[in-house]
Amino acid sequence: MSLLDRHGRPLRNLRLSVTDRCNLRCAYCMPEESYQWLPRKDLLSFEELAVLVRAFVELGVTRLRLTGGEPLLRRNLPALVRQLASVPQLEDLAITTNGLLLADQARTLVEAGMGRFSISLDSLRPERVRELTRRDGLADTLRGIETLQAIVGKHGGTKIDTVVMRGTNDDELEDLLSYARDVGAELRFIEYMDVGGATRWSMDKVVSRAEMLERLARSFGAVEAAPDADDPRAPADRYRLPDGTLFGIISSTTQPFCGECDRSRVTADGMWFLCLYARGGHDLRSMLRGGATHEALVDFLREVWTGRSHRGAEERLAQEMRVAPPAGEDPHVEMHTRGG
Ligand code: GTP
Ligand code: 5AD
Ligand code: SF4
Repeated sequence: MSLLDRHGRPLRNLRLSVTDRCNLRCAYCMPEESYQWLPRKDLLSFEELAVLVRAFVELGVTRLRLTGGEPLLRRNLPALVRQLASVPQLEDLAITTNGLLLADQARTLVEAGMGRFSISLDSLRPERVRELTRRDGLADTLRGIETLQAIVGKHGGTKIDTVVMRGTNDDELEDLLSYARDVGAELRFIEYMDVGGATRWSMDKVVSRAEMLERLARSFGAVEAAPDADDPRAPADRYRLPDGTLFGIISSTTQPFCGECDRSRVTADGMWFLCLYARGGHDLRSMLRGGATHEALVDFLREVWTGRSHRGAEERLAQEMRVAPPAGEDPHVEMHTRGG
């Protein structure tokens, strides 16, 4: 019997950030100047992460995603992956990466037991990527994707995530779809969200799901709805082009999926956030370092989840005047700390 929150949503999907550091500075994720890194001594060790995961798994978590910052920057990551892959209750082990370091690490990660990869790719034009991420990294990301696909093949579950921003990359939907199809990955277009770090966000830069679909139908012909992937709670709605190409749209901004949300996230320093938009988190690091037993941790997680009522994206939607979030004083507010 799974543990339910106040809206009947199970604790099932955990996003574990393994570092807040990133080798990119994406404009939609990090403030340009005022970002702060977490103190290194606060980062959870692999042993601490393992203890936490054991507690979460006991309460029903079956899907785990490693995030960052950029998770491939975490030293010795394959050792953590190997450890997590051996937890029998974890049915799904995934990672979200920008792919820059993937060409070198793909094989080791797959061999360690990483199940699925989501790679962020917002443009296929080198100069745009440079402007958006402040690094000349497109070639490395593409090499990462292609190296991975040569290993896992087109049934490997690889996804390519594109945040669509009006006036930045919204003229590349077709090119990105063709690229993903050619490498045997599933593209997901993500509506631009007003999360911490996205200091240049404004509603007029959001390209809604409806608009994307309209545009793709004009380019490719009728777009039809496709069945959900393996996980009906996944945030993406799936579609099929006339040539059979499948893709997804994550409409977190215009059509939030809060009602179904079974996810929470732990930052690299062990703060547990019940919602992407939650202001405060719960300090699990202090519990771990204070010598809390497994039972004490489980009890705490249970109590907190039972009281969960967050519906952050829906609440944002209900606000009339949405503005870009201010650059954070607290690094926990930023997306690069919370894990995208
Ligand atoms: P699957 O396991 O394949 O369902 O992955 P995912 O979609 O959860 O993972 P990914 O890290 O690729 O996230 C893709 C996008 O989904 C993010 O960029 C966000 O836009 C959105 N998203 C992820 N987590 C949350 C969340 O907790 N709340 C909301 N509102 N959106 C989220
Ligand atoms: N809007 C939507 N998605 C975002 N991400 C980060 N910032 C935003 C934002 N403002 C997600 C993207 C990216 C991942 C690392 O985090 O999916 O690919
Ligand atoms: Fe879940 Fe919060 Fe995201 Fe809504 S905004 S989908 S409740 S994490």
